[in-house]
Amino acid sequence: MVKISPSILSSDFSKLAKEIKSIEKAGAELVHLDVMDGHFVDNISFGPALIKSIRKCTNMIFDVHLMIDNVDKYIQDFIAAGADIITFHIENTAKPLETINMIKSLGCKVGIAVKPNTKISTIKKYLNLIDLVLIMSVEPGFSGQTYISQEKKIKELSKEIEKLPIEIEVDGGINEKISPKLIKAGATILVAGSYIFKSKNYKKAIKNLRS
Ligand code: DX5
Ligand code: ZN
Repeated sequence: MVKISPSILSSDFSKLAKEIKSIEKAGAELVHLDVMDGHFVDNISFGPALIKSIRKCTNMIFDVHLMIDNVDKYIQDFIAAGADIITFHIENTAKPLETINMIKSLGCKVGIAVKPNTKISTIKKYLNLIDLVLIMSVEPGFSGQTYISQEKKIKELSKEIEKLPIEIEVDGGINEKISPKLIKAGATILVAGSYIFKSKNYKKAIKNLRS
């Protein structure tokens, strides 16, 4: 069954602990944490201090999506804050191999993210070293954007990884109409921000995404 990773970027920050407990109760497996620095993307969100403070609210997997420059400088802080998976972007990482090794050596899982127009060929040589590929289906930076079709890329990646134990996570503009196409193409984790947090019933929203 496809796993669901709600992005708290769309949640109500004034009651964040409650929001996290609600998505856990609603059946989510992961919490998607969108870290933005105002450089790699236009938006600024939150950093390790916030992640550390919500770590005590849940045992769900902390799925940290770094949309920042100078990733290597901050890896240790995010792992100390409680990240279970750290995903960095291939587009702004000078030495991906070093970044991968740094994350792994600190005992954390590692993912690589690709923007909608970035080709799978750019990450091909790292596939046997990582745990996850994050396929962006919007331009990174903001929640609530419209889905950009990525089914072709998901299928290409599925074929490429064959029997490698890699998660294929898709992120951006996902709702119950889009999710069946992604699952069919080979996605194993779906990120959803506004679709879940703007709904009245998180459990129903998560169930809708899986079916
Ligand atoms: C965009 C983020 C996404 C976003 C998802 O840069 O990486 O995780 O918050 O939000 P929705 O589901 O509203 O597109
Ligand atoms: Zn994200």
